[in-house]
Order: sequence, then structure tokens, then C-alpha cells
Amino acid sequence: MNLLKQDCGSCHGLTMKGGLGPALTPEALHGKPASMLREVVLRGRPGTPMPPWAPFLSEAEAEWLIEVLLKGETNAHR
Ligand code: HEC
Repeated sequence: MNLLKQDCGSCHGLTMKGGLGPALTPEALHGKPASMLREVVLRGRPGTPMPPWAPFLSEAEAEWLIEVLLKGETNAHR
């Protein structure tokens, strides 16, 4: 979970409630397909500050991250 807090938290907020980037809470992500969210994480979103993480994350890792976000477990035990 350190990656989430340090690398994602700098923009999305330490508790994923948003900052420069939008909130990544289960409420905020509700209804958005996991496959689309995984693509955003891996490829970034051109024209926005959201960077591509493909150089650092495998597809499986990105998928796992999204699962954690959707379940709202980012602040659970780590
Ligand atoms: C440099 C700042 C920055 C960092 C670091 C960053 N993001 Fe983002 N992220 C953004 C911005 C800004 C957006 C919104 C893009 C837009 O306007 O659509 C975004 C969008 C997203 C979205 C899509 C949200 C949605 O509702 O469509 C996801 C998922 C996401 N980020 C996950 C992550 C994850 C996971 C990490 C860490 C591995 C991360 N981000 C790191 C800035 C950042």
C-alpha cells in the first residue's frame, strides 16, 4: 500500500479523497468499469497530469491496485 500512498497520494490525496487528481474512493469510482480504470493507471490520461504507470506496474499489479481502490481498502491494515 506504500506505493498508493506515496506515488498516488501525492496527487489523489493520502486517503484517496482527491487533491490535484480526483478522489479514488469506492464512491467516486462506483460504476466505472475496472478495465477502464486499469487502462488509465497503465497508460495515463493524455492532456491531464495523470501519468502512465506502465513502466513501473505490471498489468496484474495495476489490476490489483484498482481492486484495492474499489474495495476501499487503501486505509486498511498494510
Ligand atoms: C501527477 C499527479 C498524479 C499522480 C502521481 C497520479 N495521478 Fe491518477 N490522476 C491524476 C489526474 C489529474 C487525474 C484526472 C484525469 C482527468 O482529468 O480525467 C487522474 C485520474 C486517475 C484515475 C481515473 C479516475 C476516474 O474517475 O476516471 C485513476 C483510476 C487514477 N488516476 C489512479 C491513479 C493511481 C493508482 C496512481 C498511483 C499509481 C495515480 N493515479 C497517480 C493525477 C495523478
